[in-house]
Amino acid sequence: MLKVNTAALLEPEIEEPDIRSYLAGQEKKTLLRFLTCGSVDDGKSTLIGRLLYDTKLIFEDQLAALEQDSKRHGTNGNEIDFALLVDGLEAERQQGITIDVAYRFFSTPKRKFIVADTPGHEQYTRNMATGASTADLAVVLVDARQGILQQTRRHSIIAALLGIRHIVLAVNKIDLVDFDEQVFTRIVADYEDFAKDLGFASIVPVPISARHGDNVTQLSERTTWYTGPSLIEHLETVDVEPKIGEQPFRFPVQYVSRPNLDFRGFSGTIASGTVFVGDEVTVAKSGRHTRVKRIVTYDGDRRSASEGQAVTLVLEDEVEVSRGEMLASPQARPQVTDQFAANLVWFDEHPLLPGRAYILRTETDQVSATVTQLKHRVNINNFAHEAAKCLELNAVGVCNFSLQSPVAFDPFQENRSTGSFILIDRVTNATVAAGMILHPLRRAANIHWQALDVTKASRAAIKHQKPAVLWFTGLSGSGKSTIANLLEKKLHAAGRHTYILDGDNVRHGLNRDLGFTEEDRVENIRRVAEVARLMADAGLIVLVSFISPFRAERRMARELMGEGEFVEVFVDTPFEECARRDPKGLYARALKGELKNFTGVDSPYEAPERPDIHLQTAARSAEDMADELETWLRERGYC
Ligand code: ADX
Repeated sequence: MLKVNTAALLEPEIEEPDIRSYLAGQEKKTLLRFLTCGSVDDGKSTLIGRLLYDTKLIFEDQLAALEQDSKRHGTNGNEIDFALLVDGLEAERQQGITIDVAYRFFSTPKRKFIVADTPGHEQYTRNMATGASTADLAVVLVDARQGILQQTRRHSIIAALLGIRHIVLAVNKIDLVDFDEQVFTRIVADYEDFAKDLGFASIVPVPISARHGDNVTQLSERTTWYTGPSLIEHLETVDVEPKIGEQPFRFPVQYVSRPNLDFRGFSGTIASGTVFVGDEVTVAKSGRHTRVKRIVTYDGDRRSASEGQAVTLVLEDEVEVSRGEMLASPQARPQVTDQFAANLVWFDEHPLLPGRAYILRTETDQVSATVTQLKHRVNINNFAHEAAKCLELNAVGVCNFSLQSPVAFDPFQENRSTGSFILIDRVTNATVAAGMILHPLRRAANIHWQALDVTKASRAAIKHQKPAVLWFTGLSGSGKSTIANLLEKKLHAAGRHTYILDGDNVRHGLNRDLGFTEEDRVENIRRVAEVARLMADAGLIVLVSFISPFRAERRMARELMGEGEFVEVFVDTPFEECARRDPKGLYARALKGELKNFTGVDSPYEAPERPDIHLQTAARSAEDMADELETWLRERGYC
């Protein structure tokens, strides 16, 4: 579900030359995917190093280097420092590639394991969540001397949100508390009390010393009071298969394969369930039915295919199925909606702002989406629901989403892969959040567009003009309103139908509840863009004069309008000049610190990169610039 750039798999060491029987043995074994998480110094690297070492998956040359390094660094007396091993691999793999998570492979005679190794920026949740999205179990590491910390709780909540049902509570560094049973019992009680509402199916506590190996692969003689399994024994035997029956068939279409005119197939990986040739399937969004004619794979045709398999389906009828669609069982169809509630884990330095448009990407689909309401933030210490205006780095919350067009999905509780999504920042392209869908919102269900007979084109034609939205952006005092005002007078005199939406005026009425924080400015622009759209729909030439400091919202406004209707006018007056003019005395106050969140002082202004019209105001009169704009509009047939 989450994007992983690459996987650094360690090859298993093969001792016998009989590769064939070795591989046959490997194939029969079950696979457990898990991740390790916890606070920075809880011993994650050491534990992974220890597991690789004890299961003999370190190559001879790595081992020799490791022994040398351990001596040289002197971190651990004469013993091997396993953290150096994992950190060494980390440095290797960071050369030239950006990577979120590496997957390390190891195996024992009973099972194969893939452990998501999420080093670097341990304080950030993004890597941890990426690893958790495909894992069945989490090893939560706790330093026996520290007990349960904030990060332990945060990672546990994220693991639960991302669908992990099994926890190993590894109480590490037990040697440093003299193998004291009471310390262990107290930490276990604390954790169980904290985690009781997280819905884990199992929590197995193990006292370990990753550094010395106690209870990792073998039970330790130094913890005779401990009666449970060693860590590896538990990982080898834990049953992580969901107990619920087979899930319904879900096939997100990744691409339409059309090598020649006689073949049209839909390729993708089955997200859940099983499909047979002859089965009836439904195209989720359109509701069209058809049957599966062929199941084509790399090794030829098959009679059936199930979850996790990559196949190409050929259908009996020529139904319309585009990329981003989902084929599903007609008896249990996914939901299709453009509004839903979801849990969100926020990864980015820059907070989530309700009202801002992000790209929402599901298993196959990609749509523009905004948070219409941040219902609450979760306090990770006591699960309290707190009121919040934004979600900051590492925060978890519940939000209502509104999408530009509907997507097909299942609630995350029912299906981990068709119920999750990521959010991408439209300007930086960074993955900023992971989301788990709770349920659709019904409130838009009974509202449909009403078709009207008098159209935008007819309303504009009667006014002998083409609708347009001239969007003036620039610092406070840059001259936006002055130029817009002069332009409107000219257009009006020429018989055009116009309207000016001005920041200071609109903030007296429609937007009087909004201030100047980032989230309020986002909402300010969202509303005024919607009003401008209605006015353009009425056939008017609209002049919008708002600072509108953020690229994301100006882009949102552009996309809201019809093709060619949005004209971005950058009123480019340097900060120093605006501060010198200071028509309202606001710069003086802001610079003295009396006015907070002032654009250009302690609130950013993101200048347009490619404005349609760039007015460098320094050496020009407002009159002259208004003339230029009028000419521009006339030459392009707006008036
Ligand atoms: S925007 O950033 O949300 O687009 P808008 O254009 O509506 O701002 O309002 C800007 C006007 O509000 C400024 O011209 C100024 O007169 C006034 N103002 C009051 N406080 C601030 C502030 N902190 N930052 C910017 N403008 C402010």
